[in-house]
Amino acid sequence: MKPRDRLRIAMQKSGRLTEPALDLLNRCGLTFRQSRDKLFCFGEGEPVDLLLVRDDDIPGLIAQGVCDLGIVGRNVLNEFRGVVGDGAATLTEWRPLGFGRCRLSIAVPQDMDYSQPQDLSGLRIATSYPGLLNQWLKEKNVDAAVVTLAGSVEIAPKLGTAEVICDLVQSGGTLIANQLRETDVLLQSEAVLAGPDALPSDERGDMIELLLKRLDGVIQVRE
Ligand code: PRP
Ligand code: ZN
Ligand code: MG
Repeated sequence: MKPRDRLRIAMQKSGRLTEPALDLLNRCGLTFRQSRDKLFCFGEGEPVDLLLVRDDDIPGLIAQGVCDLGIVGRNVLNEFRGVVGDGAATLTEWRPLGFGRCRLSIAVPQDMDYSQPQDLSGLRIATSYPGLLNQWLKEKNVDAAVVTLAGSVEIAPKLGTAEVICDLVQSGGTLIANQLRETDVLLQSEAVLAGPDALPSDERGDMIELLLKRLDGVIQVRE
């Protein structure tokens, strides 16, 4: 890959993290020229550009060196780290960003008897986070089948493709709408600044250090 002299940050193109992420970067003094329906936003003042992509693609783009940093949910970052495992480019959570708070939880049909993780033995669990779910099942010593779905996980029990689910919960509205009950929290999540373990040793590294300093100032002011 050709070295770049401008910093490139990946973030969600459209979704819950998009507005607060742009707002945070603005507060750090970064402004962008391109409109938001474009894939690429050119930075006006500092040499920092944005790549607007699907959130699930962000860790891979950083690991490949296509982007230097990403603003992404801890859930997506940790799923990538778990699935890729050792040997691949490793990513670090550089800063928690204090927005997009949610949790990855097990949810069961409201009328199902459930008191402990062992009650999941022999059942099928639908999720978009097979890595995190398998890790938790292993920790709890539960033998259940993991059914991986890209989305609409909450309707799996009604469709009969799984008995229970493991999905993100924010307000809880989706669970209620689907007659599901949250039982166990696997991960507390929020938006984070993700990047490689080692920062680049060129101007981009200096720019990242500056950005981290500004972020720390902005996040402190807000708390
Ligand atoms: C997440 C999750 C649930 C919903 C939970 O999906 O998959 O569907 O949010 O939020 P609630 O507890 O406030 O109802 P999201 O809409 O973020 O996107 P996706 O499923 O399309 O990835
Ligand atoms: Zn997603
Ligand atoms: Mg959803």
